[in-house]
Amino acid sequence: MPEGVRVPAEMRIGPVLVSPATVLAPMAGVTDTVFRRFIRHASVFTKGPVSGSPDQEIAAVEESVTNQQSGCGLLMTEFTSADGLSRMRESKRRRYLTFYDDEHPIGAQLFGSNAETLAEAARIVEDTGFDTVDLNLGCPAKRVVGCNGGSGLLRDLPKIGEIFRAVRKSVSIPFTVKFRLGWNDAAIVCVELARMAEAEGLNAVALHARTREQGYSGQARWEWIAAIKQAVQIPVVGNGDIRTPEDAAAMVAQTDCDAVMIGRAAAANPWIFRQIAQYTATGRYDQPTFTDRHHMIRAYFEMLLAEAEATRDLPRDARLGETAGKMKQFATWFTHGVPGGGRLRKAIYQAKSGMEVLEQVNAFFTASSDTADVTEDTTLQAFPDSLLVCD
Ligand SMILES: Cc1cc2nc3c(=O)[nH]c(=O)nc-3n(C[C@H](O)[C@H](O)[C@H](O)COP(=O)(O)O)c2cc1C
Repeated sequence: MPEGVRVPAEMRIGPVLVSPATVLAPMAGVTDTVFRRFIRHASVFTKGPVSGSPDQEIAAVEESVTNQQSGCGLLMTEFTSADGLSRMRESKRRRYLTFYDDEHPIGAQLFGSNAETLAEAARIVEDTGFDTVDLNLGCPAKRVVGCNGGSGLLRDLPKIGEIFRAVRKSVSIPFTVKFRLGWNDAAIVCVELARMAEAEGLNAVALHARTREQGYSGQARWEWIAAIKQAVQIPVVGNGDIRTPEDAAAMVAQTDCDAVMIGRAAAANPWIFRQIAQYTATGRYDQPTFTDRHHMIRAYFEMLLAEAEATRDLPRDARLGETAGKMKQFATWFTHGVPGGGRLRKAIYQAKSGMEVLEQVNAFFTASSDTADVTEDTTLQAFPDSLLVCD
């Protein structure tokens, strides 16, 4: 990697400033409002001197590089069905499109295959106050592809053109698209698609550099991000297999992309955006201590429980059940590589409620040594195939 290449300090998507140039990837079942706010505020868990680093260095990171404390420049919602949105009652829509003021800038992602429905759903997104609207052309899930949504559309470029035009006409907020390389190796369309997006007035493109057929196997092929960057003038966001700040810098060095997008690594290491900001400013970054991890997981779980109590969209039992499920899922990702993590995961799976999960987590971290550290990098392996439903 060329010396000194770093993630850019900012990117502009139309009038929207993304600073630093890092994006939380949309992840169904993961990037709900609680997780997004948690990522945005991830720095509160590492305030002050972190793992022996001087105070001034952290302060410098915040002042000179990150406008946002967490170092994440843009948040994205989970993907939302355009059909569903346009049919739903107002109260139900809120459940899917909830966000809080501290989440700006934030983009909402839509999937669907009907141009008019997508245009109407984009208008709803704009009226709700989102900063950008994004079209999903990457989801490989059968139930989405079966209706020609997500990556299914990659086989029909004229249809994509129709959707681009209808959505572009219907909103004035920036309109972006996220896609894969193509359906398979014999039909790679990403460069043509990026050119179409630019010609139709979209404001940025994001590429997960794998084909639909690849799923999550093999390596993301970053050379295609570079190819798109050479083909268009609008901002290009690179995505796929970033696990560390070094990976993020390497992607920029190899592709010249305008921003990096991070998915799975953020669930296993919510500090990654902050680490990238620190690495950008200083060439090094801190690792969370065992205690940092405990504070982080506890804070996230408390946020989830509070949100479940505060919202009224489902019966209380259903909300708390959903929350307990999320806590189990997150604890699984987050404790991979933590010594004794297997024991904790087993205990958590037997827990009957969110409060019980929180108690297990507290007991585990309190009983374990503060000097314990993460032993191995299992960041991306922590996601079982069954969860990789969408993209
Ligand atoms: C659990 C999960 C859910 C996802 N849901 C979406 C989604 O709703 N929309 C989307 O565009 N991509 C989705 N993706 C794909 C990610 O946004 C991203 O493109 C992919 O994980 C590659 O990036 P990474 O290597 O940083 O994880 C999902 C990925 C995962 C693991």
